[in-house]
Amino acid sequence: MITPFPLDRPARLAVFASGRGTNLEALLKAFPRGNPLGEVVLVLSDNPEAPALERARGRSVEALALPWEGRRAFEARALALLWERRVDVVLLAGFMRLLSPRFVVPWYGRLLNIHPSLLPDYPGLRVHQRVLEAGERETGSTVHFVDQGMDTGPILLQGRVPVLPGDTPEVLEARLLHLEHRLYPKAVRLLLLGLAFPPPEGLLGLLGQEAARLFQGLPPREKPLYLRAWALLRVWEKEDLVGSAFLGRAGAWGRGAFLAAHLLAGDHPALRAELMGLPEEVRRRAEAVLALVESPS
Ligand code: GAR
Repeated sequence: MITPFPLDRPARLAVFASGRGTNLEALLKAFPRGNPLGEVVLVLSDNPEAPALERARGRSVEALALPWEGRRAFEARALALLWERRVDVVLLAGFMRLLSPRFVVPWYGRLLNIHPSLLPDYPGLRVHQRVLEAGERETGSTVHFVDQGMDTGPILLQGRVPVLPGDTPEVLEARLLHLEHRLYPKAVRLLLLGLAFPPPEGLLGLLGQEAARLFQGLPPREKPLYLRAWALLRVWEKEDLVGSAFLGRAGAWGRGAFLAAHLLAGDHPALRAELMGLPEEVRRRAEAVLALVESPS
């Protein structure tokens, strides 16, 4: 199965956080209890002192500390809790531990992380300091599917901000957090609507040789656009067009899918105007999806 989403009920979300929890707060606001798309039902922390736990309790969401006594013990308890609480999706939000394959493999595709850089650049710690030292003029944040590496795994969504003269790591951090508080809920909406998934297995059979090769050769940051276009064609019941759309040969549906896929990540007046010029049916379908993702619930 390419994606289990959308579900025919609100998805049950768990958030793992180690510290401050401002991204958790954004997720709690975006996915409160009763939200038709998804609701945060559980917050776990490896740190009993994490302010994140208080934020969750303040909104009457179950919040548990699993003090770190080694990876094996933490993961066994966390996996059991996720099972007991019938969790569908796990969101890492400032969770500063590496999870092992024992955890990651069964959750692959339903386990997301947010990292404050334009991955694959600057994984790891002290990101803002390193970005400034390198003289970058732009940085950003990435929501990605978690795999077995540290801050690796297929990209779901990225946002960008400029680096300005005089910026300090603290100023950059605040700018990035502001971005992240919108980016993470949007990425989760895309996942839950079935509009984002990691590259499926068996691309050759699904896409044909030419399109599969093209996709495999794309840089990691460009793949999410193609996967969103794929997802849109699935939602529109035009999945047979995916391979030819990747090659730019699927006519109006292909163009509509790529324009909408781009607009799902961020508004762009020129692309919106181009969408307006497409046949009525394509335009209507594209606008309906955009409205769904842009609406707050
Ligand atoms: C966020 O900026 C998040 O991207 C980063 O930790 C911060 C947590 O802030 N995560 C990582 O660096 C993961 N490698 P928060 O606790 O206020 O949400």
